[in-house]
Amino acid sequence: MKSKFIVQQRKIIIDTDPGQDDAVAILLALASPEEIEVLGITAVAGNVPLNLTKKNARIVCELAKKTDIKVFAGCDTPMKRPLVTAEHVHGKTGLDGPTLPDPQMPLQKQHAVDFIIETVRNNEAGTITLCPLGPLTNIATAIEKAPDIKEKVQEIVLMGGAYFEVGNITPTAEFNIYVDPEAAEIVFQSNIKITVLPLDVTHKALVTKARNDAFRALNSPVGKAVAEMTDFFERFDKEKYGSDGAPLHDPCVIAYILSPDLFSGRHINVEVETQSELTLGMTVADWWKVSGRPPNAYFIGDLDADGFFSLLTERLTRL
Ligand code: RIB
Ligand code: CA
Repeated sequence: MKSKFIVQQRKIIIDTDPGQDDAVAILLALASPEEIEVLGITAVAGNVPLNLTKKNARIVCELAKKTDIKVFAGCDTPMKRPLVTAEHVHGKTGLDGPTLPDPQMPLQKQHAVDFIIETVRNNEAGTITLCPLGPLTNIATAIEKAPDIKEKVQEIVLMGGAYFEVGNITPTAEFNIYVDPEAAEIVFQSNIKITVLPLDVTHKALVTKARNDAFRALNSPVGKAVAEMTDFFERFDKEKYGSDGAPLHDPCVIAYILSPDLFSGRHINVEVETQSELTLGMTVADWWKVSGRPPNAYFIGDLDADGFFSLLTERLTRL
């Protein structure tokens, strides 16, 4: 389905823990300069430790031949808890699947949190969108360090949480929220405009064999790498859920920025469990509006999966 919307170019910061799906999200953003200006990529500890996520982010930029992109290292542990990683899903490098060269492009010296704060402060209010694709540690730390940015951020469009799909790292919690629930609580209570791409929608964005074949058919280093990444990454969900392919969680964030009409959801209240060990990191999403708590997020529940994959595949031809 062709997008009906003409999207104004948006300035974004991608906060990420690559992660094969993060990598595809970064590629999609870098392939779309008319609609998206990537001001910087900030790495956070998540799928794998920070020493790898700050490296993987640059590997992906070089795969896209966009070596002018500024990449920053952020927080290496959650705000109040030890780091939990997901090598069982993403492999020990975080980008298992393709063989990609170590990065040559430099890492920026400035801390990612200070870059986020400085960028929001130095731009006109309402013009900077934050796109977190991993645990919310960098974002929440920036909000705590500089509360004034809350009034200036245009929107946070994040991948995280779940309602109907419940948990993927525990029975009740999605990984990004579970790793740093205190950070997620700060973000959801910030009064910043928030759009959430939860497992409820990302589990419908599956890289079936036909879609993976379409990546390979691009006959490019990017197409081959994306096919190999998603081939590797699908094991976890196939074994756990019997899914018909890898769920492209993080690319849903960028696709939403590019073509919001591919998605649908509800404005609801979302709170985060930070006390109970049993349900730690659960996003308590009031989908049926029974709590009386005020809506604080646009919570996406569905997408046009064919439209999503045709957008993604077409954009990858541009790299
Ligand atoms: O639960 C899925 C999320 O956790 C994705 O962002 C994936 O990359 C991991 O960070
Ligand atoms: Ca991620």
